[in-house]
Amino acid sequence: MTAPLRITLLPGDGIGPEIMSVAVSVLKQVAEQQNLEFEFTEALFGGAAIDETGAPVPEETLTACRQSDAVMLASIGGYKWDTLPRSQRPETGLLGLRAGLSLFANLRPATILPQLLSASSLKPEVVEGVDIMVVRELTGGIYFGSPKGIFETEDGQQRGVSTMAYSSSEIDRIGRVAFEAAQKRSARLCSVDKANVLEVSQLWRDRITALSADYSDVELSHLYVDNAAMQLVRAPKQFDTIVTGNLFGDILSDAAAMLTGSIGMLPSASLGESGPGVFEPVHGSAPDIAGQDKANPLAQVLSAAMMLRYGLSQPAAADQIEQAVLTVLDQGFRTGDIMSEGMKAVGCQGMGEALQAALST
Ligand code: IPM
Ligand code: MG
Repeated sequence: MTAPLRITLLPGDGIGPEIMSVAVSVLKQVAEQQNLEFEFTEALFGGAAIDETGAPVPEETLTACRQSDAVMLASIGGYKWDTLPRSQRPETGLLGLRAGLSLFANLRPATILPQLLSASSLKPEVVEGVDIMVVRELTGGIYFGSPKGIFETEDGQQRGVSTMAYSSSEIDRIGRVAFEAAQKRSARLCSVDKANVLEVSQLWRDRITALSADYSDVELSHLYVDNAAMQLVRAPKQFDTIVTGNLFGDILSDAAAMLTGSIGMLPSASLGESGPGVFEPVHGSAPDIAGQDKANPLAQVLSAAMMLRYGLSQPAAADQIEQAVLTVLDQGFRTGDIMSEGMKAVGCQGMGEALQAALST
């Protein structure tokens, strides 16, 4: 038995606690089988933290995260907190967590599973075999640039300002993560920017191009973001790894996610230079179905697998979880969001039980 792996759990809001509970039971079962020991600590985050402490990411939560080996987050937000001032909103807490742990690299895979081909809104022949990794810069760009704010102008108007800015070192470090990710995949990297209009994007393109000299085995291409959005829905199979800034990555990763038919299936990893990563589903807190045992826990479970692979260096345990997900899909178990004719409808807990059964065979 090795040293216990310390995992901070942030169940958050909406469907968060339900899907987290499934992922934790899966992890516990895998721990027994792989002879691993996990030490779970739960901390307040998002709306749940606002209700208890007034802040979406309390200092205590950040400390717990920093002291752990990995952080597993479910989802945050809901109608209840939508009208609070921006500084107290759950979304601001998420940005605070990313910045507080220096998680500059966000990996968002979008893989079509053959079992769910019909769930996509695009034609099967367009999406069959799609396997894309979006590498999104996460602690810079227009989300964090200054100046920002709503200012009063001299002529009595209001003026909203956000600033898209990247320094060369910020571009280089996300670029390296992306080139290395591409090396482990099909060695094709597409960098997305708006260099025909934005200076910040010109620097982005120049730096990524210069970096490519260090990665001669990776084939680099560039697309403007509007064209990239179009290509993603027109011919998504042309993409392998995509690297882009914070805002473009936010938008394109949602589009890539939807190619797969269910955003309820997609995990993500947010990583820094060192220290714990945060692993979370791409989807939100779905307050409309919270507490009704309807949520699809598979993105959370696959996030636990990403945590094992990228955060805790436990690839065998990660493989085991990913295999169990494929098995339950092969067995026909489906939550409402991925349901199709002839399949077996289950709720969140039912899917958890199916996973446990798959893991124990
Ligand atoms: C995401 C989300 C967040 C973002 C929001 C909730 C702040 O859309 O993780 O993609 O914009 O980064
Ligand atoms: Mg988003």
